Parts: sequence; C-alpha cells; structure tokens
Amino acid sequence: MKIWSGLPGDDPQRDREGTEAAIDAAGIDLDPVPPGHHRHEDVVHADGHAHPHQHSTPGEPPLIGIVGGGAVGTALGVALTRAGWPVQAISSRDPDRRAAMRLKVDGARAFAEPQALIEEVELVILAVPDDAIAPLAAGLRLYSGQAMIHTSGALGAEVLAPAMAAGTQVGAFHPLVAFADTERAVAALHGATIAIEGDDQLATLLAEMADALGATAVRLAPGSKAAYHAAAVLAAGGFVALLDAIVELGRVAGLDEAGSLAIYGPLIEGTLGNARALGVSAALTGPITRGDFGTLGAHLATLKEHAPGVLALYVAAAQREIALARGRGDLAPETASIMAITLSEALAWAD
Ligand SMILES: NC(=O)c1ccc[n+]([C@@H]2O[C@H](COP(=O)([O-])OP(=O)(O)OC[C@H]3O[C@@H](n4cnc5c(N)ncnc54)[C@H](OP(=O)(O)O)[C@@H]3O)[C@@H](O)[C@H]2O)c1
Repeated sequence: MKIWSGLPGDDPQRDREGTEAAIDAAGIDLDPVPPGHHRHEDVVHADGHAHPHQHSTPGEPPLIGIVGGGAVGTALGVALTRAGWPVQAISSRDPDRRAAMRLKVDGARAFAEPQALIEEVELVILAVPDDAIAPLAAGLRLYSGQAMIHTSGALGAEVLAPAMAAGTQVGAFHPLVAFADTERAVAALHGATIAIEGDDQLATLLAEMADALGATAVRLAPGSKAAYHAAAVLAAGGFVALLDAIVELGRVAGLDEAGSLAIYGPLIEGTLGNARALGVSAALTGPITRGDFGTLGAHLATLKEHAPGVLALYVAAAQREIALARGRGDLAPETASIMAITLSEALAWAD
C-alpha cells in the first residue's frame, strides 16, 4: 500500500488523484453521456445503432459468442467451430476455465464479462445453469440485429426477454445429449435431436446450426417443453438410476459393476431393439406378463432382505408393467389387482 504524506501543492499528481477520488465519491460524472446515447469504454454512441462492431459476411454463419465455460458451453464451442460455425468469443468468470475453454475453442477471444462478449458477436448462446439464466439475462442488453438463445431444456425462450431491445430476437437451442465429457458430447451431437425455439427467422438459423452439427432440429408445441424435458431426464438420469439399482442387485448375486454391465447390457440393448421394432408395449417380458405370483414374491422378499434401497424403484416399475400387461390383455383384471396390492403391501411393510 502507498502512504502519502506532505502538503497540498507538493505533489500535483497526488492532488489531482485526490480531487478525482472526491468527485467520484460524490457521484459526479465529469464526462456525462448525452440523452439518447450510450458508452462503450471510451466511445459514446447514439442509441439504436446496430452492434456488434463486427458483422458476419452475408450468407456466412453469424458471429457466435458463448457465455459459460461449463460442460455444454465448451462442447458446443468445440463442435460449432469444427462444423465451420466459428465461435468468435467465449466468456467465463473463472480464469482457469476461461483459459481451458479458449484452448479448446479454436480462435475464440475470451472475456470475463458476458456484456463485453455481446459487443463482439451477433448470436449469444447462454450455456449457464437453468437457475442462472433469468438473472443473467436481466443484467445484459442486446443491440439491434442481435439474437440471444439459451440451452436449457426446461425453460422457454421468454426468460431471456429482459435482455431484449428493439430489433433483437431470443430463442432456445436444447440438444438432447448428455454432456458428461467434451469429446463424447461433440460426437453425440451427430444424430441427436435439438429442440429449438424462436420466431421464424431465428428458428431457421437455429435449424441450420443444428444441421451443421449433424443433428436434427425439432420445434415443440407451445407449453410442451417441461414434459419433453421430463422425458429426457427419465431417459438419461432416470436410466442411470435404474442402472445403479441393477448394479446393486448384481452385487447381491456376486457381480461387480463391470460384470453387471456386461451381463445385463445386452439384455437392455435387446429390449430397446424390441421396443423400436415392435413398440413399447409388445417389448414387455417377464413374470408380471405371466401373472407369476411365486416369482414376484421371491423378488420382493430378496429385495427387502438384501437391497431395500431398490424396493421402491422395483415396485414403481412393476406397477407400470401391470398396467401395460393389462392393456395388452395378458392379465385378468383380478390377477392384476392382486399383484398391485401385493406390491403396495411390500412397500408399506418396508416403511
Ligand atoms: N449437462 C447436460 O447434459 C445438458 C444437456 C442439455 C442442456 N443442458 C443445459 O445447458 C445449460 C448449461 O448446463 P451445463 O451442464 O453446461 O452446466 P455447468 O457445467 O454447470 O456449467 C455452466 C457454466 O455456467 C456458468 N455459471 C454458473 N453459474 C452462473 C451464474 N450464476 N451466472 C453466470 N454464469 C454462471 C459457469 O461458467 P463460468 O464459471 O465459466 O462462468 C458454469 O461452468 C443448462 O441450462 C442445462 O440445463 C445441459
């Protein structure tokens, strides 16, 4: 820390800094921006002029900026750049993540502040956690001609409205991919589905962007996004929870995780293949379709004794299987209802 001493006039530089500090503390702006104008660092512009200061060539992809150095931001940055949709800028609040992302996303400029990135690009992608999207958008301001999208599967594009100004557009671009690892996610984008939102002009651009990634764009019916996303969560996280339960039961049978995956993996793949070929209902097999009480009782007993944590999941799946088997005409109504009661009682005893 620098300690000043001496009288006023001894050091003009110190006096000037002291005066500026006092003016600053009093909230006086010595260089005010005229009404109808705004400032970017040292430059003052009239409001309503189009940003950014650089533009893509007509017919070329837009200048893209990605906010957030997490799983999705990084993988999209890599995938878009490789697909010939160069990412002009990235922003990450964390210096290490910022450096790592810049290394991976070839040619991108790196910023700590999202608003600084907005000065440089035409299409802003917010790849931040769902809960952070609305507060982040509320602190940002788009310029005429720009668009902003987020990558959430749960939220609509309207959460970005606070960042809008005249002549701007907002949308969403949700890849149905589990972003666990950058390279695996980049590969998985090929053949994936991407749910897009936006008015027609932006949706056309986003569909082209999905196409460049080797993915297929879909436009969801208004109001259906939460259900679409809940299904995706069951297909990814829900399926992992099911796998975890399978592995736990495999341990009871003396298998380690790799052993369980080796043994039950082909059964899972075969079931998925059957569902694709025959339909979901026709793919159902197992003791419930046969009304086999003895096997059901043996399963419930062993689960209670050796894997009580799996019981609720087994019961929930079995109740759904009963409904499917009933719908298929395999189970008489009385058999179905006794099985359902047996399952509910097993759960109640476990509590
Ligand atoms: N993960 C998936 O499989 C997946 C799949 C499809 C869609 N999505 C969606 O994609 C979005 C991002 O998910 P993700 O998995 O990439 O998340 P993530 O790995 O947790 O990364 C999000 C990044 O956002 C930044 N961030 C976090 N909190 C913030 C805040 N309060 N304000 C500003 N920035 C913040 C952080 O980057 P910095 O610290 O670098 O700034 C963080 O690394 C979410 O909407 C998610 O629903 C995820």
